[in-house]
Amino acid sequence: MSEKTVIFPQDRTCPYHPPTAYEPLRTGRPLSRVTLFDGRSVWMVSGHAEARALLSDGRLSADRQNLSFPAPSRRLQDLQDRYTALFGVDGPAHNTQRRMLISSFGLGRTAALRPWIQETVDRLIDALIAAGPRAELVGDFARPVASMVTCEVLGVPYADHEFFMIQSRRLHSGPEATDVDDAREQLNGYLHEFIGRKREKPGGALLDELIVQRLETGEIDVQELADLVSALLVAGHETTASMISLGTFTLLSHPEQLAELRNDPSLMPAAVEELMRFLSIADGLRRVATEDIEVGGVTVRTGDGVIFSTSVINRDEAVFEKPDTLDWHRPSRHHLAFGFGIHQCLGQNLARAEVEIALGTLFERLPGLRLAAEPDRIPFKPGDDTIQGMVELPVAW
Ligand code: HEM
Repeated sequence: MSEKTVIFPQDRTCPYHPPTAYEPLRTGRPLSRVTLFDGRSVWMVSGHAEARALLSDGRLSADRQNLSFPAPSRRLQDLQDRYTALFGVDGPAHNTQRRMLISSFGLGRTAALRPWIQETVDRLIDALIAAGPRAELVGDFARPVASMVTCEVLGVPYADHEFFMIQSRRLHSGPEATDVDDAREQLNGYLHEFIGRKREKPGGALLDELIVQRLETGEIDVQELADLVSALLVAGHETTASMISLGTFTLLSHPEQLAELRNDPSLMPAAVEELMRFLSIADGLRRVATEDIEVGGVTVRTGDGVIFSTSVINRDEAVFEKPDTLDWHRPSRHHLAFGFGIHQCLGQNLARAEVEIALGTLFERLPGLRLAAEPDRIPFKPGDDTIQGMVELPVAW
């Protein structure tokens, strides 16, 4: 049957567009059957309205330990039985975990962090300029910004940021399950020891608040706290780093839009929002149905896997006019690049601030910034990586 012909996931042909192989799914129904690497057939959601309805439907579970939870690759299947705080938790338990963190990620807290983010970005760009006029932006800029900000928010010392950067990267995309397990163990050991030290001498960051308000009160134990912190580390690292490097690549590939932005930096917040929609780097959110659900003219059956391709959903013509055009004059706030429903990104205010400051400052301070290789020779991530983006980004100025 033709509806089974699309294999999920596919590599993007251009780093900022959905894979061309998903084209039939963009023009067809809001839900289609796709085939995973192991031959299993699951639903892929491409309609914006249906995605919002399903992502807020309690009959879809995010529990990765459910044996029917869909895996887009052998590597992720091998990791399926590992517990993941927040992301992999449903119902009241998820609500409890989320409530512990939510006040730390509000608009006020993020606004207070902006000067610190600006200073950090400036320092990294000073170093780029000193070593220039060439750089590899993923390793020299995008990843350090993401990891330094996460460390600051959590309250882990700058001296340990290198360790965190390496382990959270291995946790997110270690080549083998054993590599991921080793990173998890190292991080866990570090966090247990660190939490112990912090209990004796608390500071004022998120981890300190969690220790005082949740750990010392007996609401959670040390392992639960370490699990929450690990989830935050993975959540905020590769995502933000990818937005910064792929965002830079995309702007350099759209000179007209970039010129407009340079002439009027007040457009930056709208540009970041549109880049979130356009790039949709978290492309392939996953759930499993725990009951039958009627949606978009089909029945999703109990045990069915459901995949949300945000890159396709965020280009639904019913919602976004000329969706393949990068245009920050459109209202793009209702994109689903940060997900939707109970698992909607907790760090989205922080992510917006980081990306806005990083891209704005980079293009302001390096006016001659350009790609230092042919665009089609610059490597980007394969489709089965849960976060899309550049592998490397050679630039010069
Ligand atoms: C541009 C960068 C980012 C993007 C595109 C992004 C995207 C997402 C998406 C799509 C989800 C939903 C996952 C799902 O429904 O399965 C999510 C959840 C989450 N994000 Fe982000 N994220 C970004 C940055 C961050 C940052 C900086 C943090 C915090 C340090 C963060 C923390 C979280 C957490 C904790 C969740 C899980 C929320 C829950 O399950 O209740 N994210 N993110």
